[in-house]
Amino acid sequence: MYSSEQTRQLQQLTKELMAASNSKPLGKGKLDDLRDVIRFHEYRYAIMNDPLISDPEYDGLYKQLEHIEAEHPELIKPDSPTQRVAKGLTKEFPTMQHLVPMLSLENSYNEEDLLAWDKRARELAGLEELEYCVEPKFDGASISLTYENDLLLRGVTRGDGVAGDEITNNIRQIRSVPLKAAFSRYGLQLVEIRGEVLMNKNNFKKYNDQLAEQNLAPLANPRNAAAGSLRIKDPREVSRRNLEAFLYHVSYFTTMEGWQMTDGHLTSPEGEDMGAVKPKEMPVHPALKSHSGSLQMLWDLGFRSPQKEKRVVKGIQAVLDYCHEFEKQRDGLPYEIDGMVIKVNSIALQDKMGMTTHHPRWAIAFKFKARQATSILRKVEFQVGRTGSITPVAKIDPVPLSGVTVSSVSLFNEEVVREKDLKIGDQVLVERAGDVIPYIVKPLAELRTGKETAIVFPTHCPVCGDKLVKPEGEAVWRCVNINCPAQVVERIIHFASKDAMDIRSFGDANVRKFFELGFLKDIPGIYHLPYDKIRELEGFGEKSIANLQGAIETSKKQPLHRLIFGLGIRYVGETTAKTLAAAVSHLTDFEGFSLEDLQNLEDVGPKVATSVHQFFRNKDNRALLDKLESLGLNLKSQKGAPAAGGNLNGQTFLFTGTLQRLKRSDAEEIVEKNGGKLLSGVSSKLNYLIVGEDAGSKLEKAKKIPSIRILTEDEFIKLVDI
Ligand code: IVH
Repeated sequence: MYSSEQTRQLQQLTKELMAASNSKPLGKGKLDDLRDVIRFHEYRYAIMNDPLISDPEYDGLYKQLEHIEAEHPELIKPDSPTQRVAKGLTKEFPTMQHLVPMLSLENSYNEEDLLAWDKRARELAGLEELEYCVEPKFDGASISLTYENDLLLRGVTRGDGVAGDEITNNIRQIRSVPLKAAFSRYGLQLVEIRGEVLMNKNNFKKYNDQLAEQNLAPLANPRNAAAGSLRIKDPREVSRRNLEAFLYHVSYFTTMEGWQMTDGHLTSPEGEDMGAVKPKEMPVHPALKSHSGSLQMLWDLGFRSPQKEKRVVKGIQAVLDYCHEFEKQRDGLPYEIDGMVIKVNSIALQDKMGMTTHHPRWAIAFKFKARQATSILRKVEFQVGRTGSITPVAKIDPVPLSGVTVSSVSLFNEEVVREKDLKIGDQVLVERAGDVIPYIVKPLAELRTGKETAIVFPTHCPVCGDKLVKPEGEAVWRCVNINCPAQVVERIIHFASKDAMDIRSFGDANVRKFFELGFLKDIPGIYHLPYDKIRELEGFGEKSIANLQGAIETSKKQPLHRLIFGLGIRYVGETTAKTLAAAVSHLTDFEGFSLEDLQNLEDVGPKVATSVHQFFRNKDNRALLDKLESLGLNLKSQKGAPAAGGNLNGQTFLFTGTLQRLKRSDAEEIVEKNGGKLLSGVSSKLNYLIVGEDAGSKLEKAKKIPSIRILTEDEFIKLVDI
């Protein structure tokens, strides 16, 4: 899509725009440049998976574009990068017909099936050997996209194949779908393309973690996650799901006026010779004469097509070889595939071969072995989590499944067990896709002998014996005894875990062992472990003790957001922890935050705010924080710390009242020159309010938001070092 020369130029332009926007906001003259640059970086991020700038730098450019468009709304165009974001909620998804019905694919499961299909295909085509294009079969939700005059017109779900739900606003949230694609370069006016929307494995895991955090049942697989996400009414939520799309088929097009045939050659309206075309063929661009050509075209137009993943081969043996070769890569791919698709490469042959009412005769799916197995459900154990949640875990006869032996499968909560109607003694179908955690698809009810027994949920905590409760509106039973040993140990494990304080060599097993031996009772205990006793344990040599001590010592310097996440405050995931860390200069500042202050923070809703508020009002928690600080842990936020040496990068400022030593405009210029940003009102986004004489309501408002630092003019001058 972008040549190396274009890449170099756009990167240069990016630097220039970033530098220029540091001193003052960009003007409307930079509108086209900004849009080009932002589109380019979206492409590097979403299609190439190789960004050239950081997220904050991208956000900075995006904000500049938003700013110009806010000042000049008449210059907004539908393909501007800002126009992905829809305002408000989608009311309903109207039903919309596809231009061409979306057929399914015939399936094959083994070599014999494929050889038989190849034989039939060769007969239909009347050829000894066929050229095939082989590509992955993406396991997501299929969509059709229509572009008219180079602009994305609509996106529709598969539906019943003839018509689906129009979900254009949600499709616009997918960064790998271009809002504008130069189909006109290929002489095309109206184009319908097909593809698959996916949630990659990593985002799927993160999403399920978030659901777990809120005690919601996780989704079974990324396919369901993608399909469900496309039907969300709030496009901003769709955007947060980080969906991706592969486009793999051009299903319909009309050609533009002005394209014609001259002496058997197709000529563009500009008179450019596009190559030879046989007399009876439709005058189309050569790219559209083969499937691989259309994948190349889509790629060149900025779509993510299986351009690198596909292979064009001659004969069915080479097809089989590629299918087997690709299957080996399956687990290492960032997204799920469930097989390969084999397509006759020539579009003329495809037309000749035609289709049944159900599927095209020129394509077939080669399905990989299902990652399912059957086993017997022997018993259900009930585990107590960090927040006291009780999780039923199925113990099944060990069964090999995509490279590992599975013997333990989470059943998530009581509702899931009821819904699936599971019984002890059942034969169960277990599935495990890639590195996705295994789950029970269903019991094989028809194989029941009558000896199966019901799964009985406990009424009391299996660890501390306290009575369990189920808060209204929640699916999960809970042990509410915060001193329940099971919870305490899980809290310590979470605190030390990779995404929290990242204390290497202090994993699950060691924490549990030390806890059982009484070496460790709570989180602060991590920082005064009895090393003399640990030394006597088997498997703890000097070296491993030194490693452990070193890792624990290093963790004291972890940034504040990791500590906040590690505290395990309910509903506070990694992202919220970062938001919280950026809002204070010291963790205990949160004691002064009202519920409203908390809700003013980005993406903090009432549920999170209430949880954080309660946490910082609890005396035991306060004592815990004091103890951690006295042990040398870092409770200060780097962001809130005063900027050094006039570097105000990323900090926000507002002046109020009359300044005595500086002119207001000079002071503002100083802020911008040093990389700071000016805000027009008091909000939790403000870092510094500089107060001159006779300051009024802004000062009063700022006093109520503890994260804002209120400086006098003299203090400001000192801060910027002038
Ligand atoms: S081609 C007319 N190519 O698999 C041909 N389909 O089981 C249209 N799929 O409905 C389909 N990856 O949603 C094609 N590379 C690929 C695919 C693919 C996934 C889906 C598609 C189709 C389903 C059939």
